[in-house]
Amino acid sequence: MGDGRPWDSGVIAARVDSALGGFPPEHPEARRWFIASLGGEPAGLVVSSRHEGAVEIGYWVAPEHWGRGLAGRMVAMAIPVVWDAYGPVSLSARVEPGNLASVRILARHGFRADGVTPEGLAVYRLDHHSPARS
Ligand SMILES: CC(C)(COP(=O)(O)OP(=O)(O)OC[C@H]1O[C@@H](n2cnc3c(N)ncnc32)[C@H](O)[C@@H]1OP(=O)(O)O)[C@@H](O)C(=O)NCCC(=O)NCCS
Repeated sequence: MGDGRPWDSGVIAARVDSALGGFPPEHPEARRWFIASLGGEPAGLVVSSRHEGAVEIGYWVAPEHWGRGLAGRMVAMAIPVVWDAYGPVSLSARVEPGNLASVRILARHGFRADGVTPEGLAVYRLDHHSPARS
C-alpha cells in the first residue's frame, strides 16, 4: 500500500482495530469499511476515514478481479453510502499519479485534482452534492 509494498501484520491489526472501533461518524477518528463481494466471496474493500475537512476514501480489489470494472462500481456505490454515513462532507482520495486506473475512477466520479502531498501523492476532492442514485 502507498509505497507498493504490503502492510505488515502490525499495521493491518491497527487498521482493523481502528475500523472496528465503533466511533460515531462525527468523531475525528471515525472509520467505515465496506466489503464488495462477488458470488458470496469478498473481492474488494472501500475504506472511509474522517479527516480535517473531508472524509478520505481508499479502495482495493483482489488482483484476480482487476480489469473488470469492479473498482469503478465499488466507488459509485460507496459515494452515496459514505454520505449517508457521515452527512454532507467533502470526499478526498490520495493516489499515486501513475495509478491510471485509480485516477480514471476518481475523474469519472467527479473528483477534481486538489494538490499533491509532501510524499508526492496526488490529492483528489469531491464536494458534497445530491447524486442521482443508480
Ligand atoms: C486500482 C484498482 C482499484 C483498479 O481496480 P479495477 O477493478 O481493476 O478497476 P476497473 O476495472 O474498475 O477500472 C477502472 C478504470 O480504469 C481504467 N484502467 C484500467 N487500467 C488502466 C490503465 N493501466 N491505464 C488507464 N486506465 C486504466 C479502466 O478502463 C476503467 O475505466 P472505465 O471505467 O472508463 O472503463 C486495483 O488495481 C487495485 O486494487 N490496486 C491496488 C490498490 C490501489 O491502487 N487502490 C487505489 C488507491 S486510491
